[in-house]
Amino acid sequence: MPVAELRRLRRKKVIRDWVSRTSLRPGNFILPCFVVGGKGVKEPISSMDGVYRQSTDNLIKDIADAYALGIRSVLLFGVTEAKDEYGTGAYQGDGVVQEAVREIKKEFSDRGGKDLILITDVCLCGYTSHGHCGIIRRKKTEDRCQKEEKNPSSHYIDNDATLPFLARIALSHAEAGADFVAPSAMMDGQVKAIREVLNTNGHNEVGILAYSVKYASHFYGPFRDALNSAPRFGDRKSYQMDFRNSDEALREIATDIDEGADIVMVKPALAYLDIIHRARETFRVPIAAYNVSGEYCLVKQLSRGNPEQEKGLMLEILTAIKRAGADLIITYHAKEAARWLRQE
Ligand code: PBG
Repeated sequence: MPVAELRRLRRKKVIRDWVSRTSLRPGNFILPCFVVGGKGVKEPISSMDGVYRQSTDNLIKDIADAYALGIRSVLLFGVTEAKDEYGTGAYQGDGVVQEAVREIKKEFSDRGGKDLILITDVCLCGYTSHGHCGIIRRKKTEDRCQKEEKNPSSHYIDNDATLPFLARIALSHAEAGADFVAPSAMMDGQVKAIREVLNTNGHNEVGILAYSVKYASHFYGPFRDALNSAPRFGDRKSYQMDFRNSDEALREIATDIDEGADIVMVKPALAYLDIIHRARETFRVPIAAYNVSGEYCLVKQLSRGNPEQEKGLMLEILTAIKRAGADLIITYHAKEAARWLRQE
């Protein structure tokens, strides 16, 4: 006879449900959205099956569907081809994100009875001609005859020169009506710079969801296609984290909390469950995890043409992310997952 009968609690569904310790709800999900200018646009993103770049009118319908399914928050990314060296398009009052925020807020507000949490991504990479998340400087000592554009070692990303740009972007989003801003550039001091500019301008109520732990990851490939934001030279390893490290993630989070972050994020999620878990054990703030584009595509590939497989895989993955310690999950599967949870 076995010593312990662990199978007793697995005998039937009602008992399994009764003793399950992790549960997902649609309210835990954050839906990432790609917004473009114009009207009536709904453009499939070739690298991400089932994900679209949309103009605000179409996006509003999409968000309404998500809302009806119980999702209460979206994360907005602006997509534009108007790029320059400093990413000035990112902070125009009439920029694509700012306009979208205004219109979405008009549609979804406390007063309208449909209260939505609108989060905006704050970064430069979607707006810079070089595709980096910060301001580029050329190293003076380099031989000017080299083909500089092709030689990453002749350039560096200037941390402190980038901070005022990020602050300006965040302020423009707050002025448009964003509820939370989400700085993702991985510049040191970005949360502090943003908290200061928001408070100075009377936006004390606007929160910061900090991309605190963002690894230099190969899982971002499909997203960069969506935004056309892949770096034109070099990589992001001098500012995003090295995936061989884990203590450093805790330092990043501690620093961001000190600087004023309300919610901290770990990104990507699936290959970094250990980091989510360590963050959960160490900190008492809400933790978000970003189930990124590459993770989305893996699931799509693996379950091609088999919705039951996709559902099973996704609910298992999202539960794992929650079980590891995430309170909120940013996922391109948010709407499907909310639908599947209803069927359970
Ligand atoms: C921008 C940013 C990236 C993602 C979110 N914000 C990409 C990057 O660092 O190149 C990736 C999201 C995803 O892969 O789904 N800094």
